[in-house]
Amino acid sequence: MVEDLKNVLISEEKIKEIVKKLGKEITEDYKGKNLILISVLKGSVVFMADLMREIDLPLKIDFMIVSSYGDKAVSSGKVKIVKDLDIDLSDLDVLMVEDILDTGRTLCSLLEILRTRNPKSLKLCTFLDKPDRRATDIEADYVGAKIPDEFVVGYGLDFNQRYRNLPYVGVLKPEVYE
Ligand code: IMP
Ligand code: MG
Repeated sequence: MVEDLKNVLISEEKIKEIVKKLGKEITEDYKGKNLILISVLKGSVVFMADLMREIDLPLKIDFMIVSSYGDKAVSSGKVKIVKDLDIDLSDLDVLMVEDILDTGRTLCSLLEILRTRNPKSLKLCTFLDKPDRRATDIEADYVGAKIPDEFVVGYGLDFNQRYRNLPYVGVLKPEVYE
């Protein structure tokens, strides 16, 4: 797998540092609140598993599976829920946990759906942020690291369902996906 990478962008050590810092911030901000972490399968599972153990508060977790409508190349951003949440969000302080915020289209549509469930609050935490690619006015409340516009894999992120198990974030060689 390593031979498919151009370079390592975020090392395992750096990831630990980033997640610890985010966990600390979230612990401060959500004291006395009714926190639930929600993530969308599958990219966010690795980050979710690490982040929740750095949050020193009682919390709930839940997962969704969504798929985009239509042609991905001209992504409308409209999402269809394939697996919905099990937990009722009313009275909960929802923190969406994402692997990467890219154009923001998928998330924009998802947040719209979640807002109709009347959560007490709704915020967004993303491990990676690619601000150069943004096509919506979405901004994350918590950002692990801002990265340039390059295709990255590892730490949950895939290309064709591969590389999710790499313990670091790497840039894929263009010849792998071209
Ligand atoms: P968007 O923000 O709606 O454009 O979509 C974000 C989704 O695109 C993420 O949840 C990832 O599944 C995928 N994605 C975007 N950039 C990358 C990348 O660099 N590597 C792997 N997946 C990516
Ligand atoms: Mg994803």
